[in-house]
Amino acid sequence: MTARRDVYLDHSASTPVDPRVLEAMAPYFTEVYGNSSSLHSYGRRAEAAVERARETVSSILRCKPSEIVFTSGGSESDNLAVRGAAWAARAQGKGAHLVTTPVEHSAVTATVKQLVTVQGFSMTLIPVSRTGQIDVEDFVSALSAETTVASVIYANNEVGTLAPIPQLATAARERGVIFHSDAVQAAGQLSLDVNELGVDMLSLSAHKFYGPKGVGALYVREGTAISPTQSGGSHERGMRAGTHNTPFIVGMAEALRIAYEEQAERVEHLRRRRNAIIDGILTHVPDAFLTGERELRLPSHASFIFPGVDSSQLLMHLDMRGVAASGGSACKTGSPEPSSVLLAMGISEADAIGSLRLSVGVHTTLEDVEYAVSAVKESVSRLRSVSSKLRSARLS
Ligand SMILES: Cc1ncc(COP(=O)(O)O)c(C=O)c1O
Repeated sequence: MTARRDVYLDHSASTPVDPRVLEAMAPYFTEVYGNSSSLHSYGRRAEAAVERARETVSSILRCKPSEIVFTSGGSESDNLAVRGAAWAARAQGKGAHLVTTPVEHSAVTATVKQLVTVQGFSMTLIPVSRTGQIDVEDFVSALSAETTVASVIYANNEVGTLAPIPQLATAARERGVIFHSDAVQAAGQLSLDVNELGVDMLSLSAHKFYGPKGVGALYVREGTAISPTQSGGSHERGMRAGTHNTPFIVGMAEALRIAYEEQAERVEHLRRRRNAIIDGILTHVPDAFLTGERELRLPSHASFIFPGVDSSQLLMHLDMRGVAASGGSACKTGSPEPSSVLLAMGISEADAIGSLRLSVGVHTTLEDVEYAVSAVKESVSRLRSVSSKLRSARLS
């Protein structure tokens, strides 16, 4: 093996803040520190910065600035979208049926679950294919006269699969169903044009595209009724109470602006490295298989199953070799839980335990990829030989 190096391949979990973003944020900590709701000049300068950021974000989503709600991140955006639209629809005397998928981020899944178990909503989960793909016909047949909100993830965080959002959104809206998509992983790489996508609501989180953690946005199409899930002041047109986090909002807008200014080169860079990972792992690691789609996947995202391997142990071995990655499962040391996303895709419990996600970023080099592939190869082989020795020791 070549000399040890540090390779961060967990950009789907979080990305470093771009120095240009940090620079744009800096004055809003120490110079423009007023409360954006205050009437004096300090407040007005902060408010102007928030409104400029709103314009920047809206120009990338191709919507009106008034359709952007700033939040504390992807989880809050998902919560506000699903719960806020479900509550508002019920308050208007509409139905109380929700449609979603078994491959959503837990911010959507847990919100829907709470609406069902605590507040009497009903829901239908659409099946997914072996690659985590959603069939538009299955989606349509899940919609009923009682359905008010549907939520489908744009790019899956565990397996990278891209959903046919424009077709799903059109089908929903034709039936008067509000359509939300979690675009937290897609943002910074794929189109966020809300008219092309046809969505009514779209969730974003800045830390996935080289912005700060703890800030996000929810696009809410004009005319879509939302009940606030965090009540208080009248910020964000009454949809989200709380003093604006001016520096973070400025940072998110700058990160999004840079991401789309550099989108073509970034995507090409990411795709080449992702493909090198996929080809390298499938060529060099025996029995490894890819999860999710081969082409119709997030440019930065590669995910695999290594049968016979426990992903929590694999992550530790990789970490010792300097490679930061992620397991597809909610691992607890000694008792790995298979991921519900992988199980919904029809992957067996035994295989689901051996999942690994490697996600590349704008700084990832082809040398990093080469090193990571050999680290995975060695780690998998080491873990398999240990477990086969343990098995034969138990048998003898
Ligand atoms: C698809 C998806 N949705 C939502 C979230 C939550 O975003 P945040 O960390 O900003 O709360 C994540 C974060 O991993 C994600 O991948």
